[in-house]
Amino acid sequence: MLPIQRAKGLWLYDFDGKRYLDAVSSWWVNLFGHQEPRIKQAIIQQLNQLEHVMLAGFTHEPVIQLSEALAQATGLGHCFYASDGASATEIALKMSFHYWHQQGQTNKQQFVSLKQSYHGETVGALAVTDVSLFKDTYAALLRETVQMPSPDWRLAQAGESAHDYAVSCAQQMDDYLAQHHAQIAAVIVEPLVQCAAGMAMYEPVYLQRLSDSCRRYQVHLIADEIAVGFGRTGTLFACQQAHIKPDFLCLSKGISGGFLPLSVTLTTHDIYQAFYHDEMSKGFLHSHSYTGNPLACAAALASLKIFSQDNILNRNAQLQAWINQQLQAWQDMPIQHLRNCGMIWAFDVQSSKTDFSRQCYQLALQKGVLLRPIGNTVYWMPPYCMTQQDAAFMLEKTREVILQCV
Ligand SMILES: Cc1ncc(COP(=O)(O)O)c(C=O)c1O
Repeated sequence: MLPIQRAKGLWLYDFDGKRYLDAVSSWWVNLFGHQEPRIKQAIIQQLNQLEHVMLAGFTHEPVIQLSEALAQATGLGHCFYASDGASATEIALKMSFHYWHQQGQTNKQQFVSLKQSYHGETVGALAVTDVSLFKDTYAALLRETVQMPSPDWRLAQAGESAHDYAVSCAQQMDDYLAQHHAQIAAVIVEPLVQCAAGMAMYEPVYLQRLSDSCRRYQVHLIADEIAVGFGRTGTLFACQQAHIKPDFLCLSKGISGGFLPLSVTLTTHDIYQAFYHDEMSKGFLHSHSYTGNPLACAAALASLKIFSQDNILNRNAQLQAWINQQLQAWQDMPIQHLRNCGMIWAFDVQSSKTDFSRQCYQLALQKGVLLRPIGNTVYWMPPYCMTQQDAAFMLEKTREVILQCV
């Protein structure tokens, strides 16, 4: 355990004053750097007004403003709040199942996800997750779900383009839905990047085809943008790159700029209306104590403002181009599948070491960088306050670590 005393911008400081560049945004939650003053100020201001009130029969200004802002940004007009990512996916799964039930389609009880998917670790979310390390022990508790091939372009055949491979995976999904749609409530995917799979990236065409298939066969599409939302893939939301609107959009992590736990499941007016009923059992009876916490909503509103105030997406695109240019000098490195999507970079290290990830993590810390490899995949998902100078430091130290760990 490494005890951290304080943090500022890109840097975490331990009790001896040694600093570490947070190249993984503290598990992908931090957006603009630690201690971002405008988010801090928004939380303090809210703290002086209202720290919390239950969101059942009551409402408050930050949650209304945030819902309006998210509706405008996503085109999905209804928000259901919780506190973490896994709860957001649980809510989408339950709401999808319940929606079909209300329509008399009681056979729609199955869920489809992708191979190597990750949607959280509560019992429902784990059922659609495909990571045996997290799943196997609890197998007896979990519903059976179906996993279709991942469009991860590393899995393409030799000579097959990323685009063609994505199209062929989408075709397999379409064939499956054609046959089984009467039993399927929803397909859940992580748009563009399956982060926990080791930053597996794929082409937007997969999402376009999947969205068409879901419409054709009347199956909900759940977009889990818990990790990739809020600018990580270069656009505010990854779905925008495929020009699709899912039936459910799950957001968390970066939503509050990395300050407080908050998640939201957005959905359409059609789905909302199905639950708007006088009969109690037709309502969506799901709640969490801290749902829509005002402090977290105030942090989220301040974060959204920073995107426009600081022209973040443009600034990120410039840093992205600069880093990619630097990486052209990495051709002699013992790595493969160097990949980038927005503010996410990853590559797979050809190492013979069985404990590569642990060694890499420890050596990087010694050199002042927090890297957290997933197996042999090293990745960077830095906060957006990174400068070219910081990026040069991150690249140089990572390069040294890799060369020492192979
Ligand atoms: C795509 C995705 N979905 C869901 C989750 C779960 O979020 P939480 O850890 O807040 O429950 C994660 C967490 O890494 C994630 O990456």
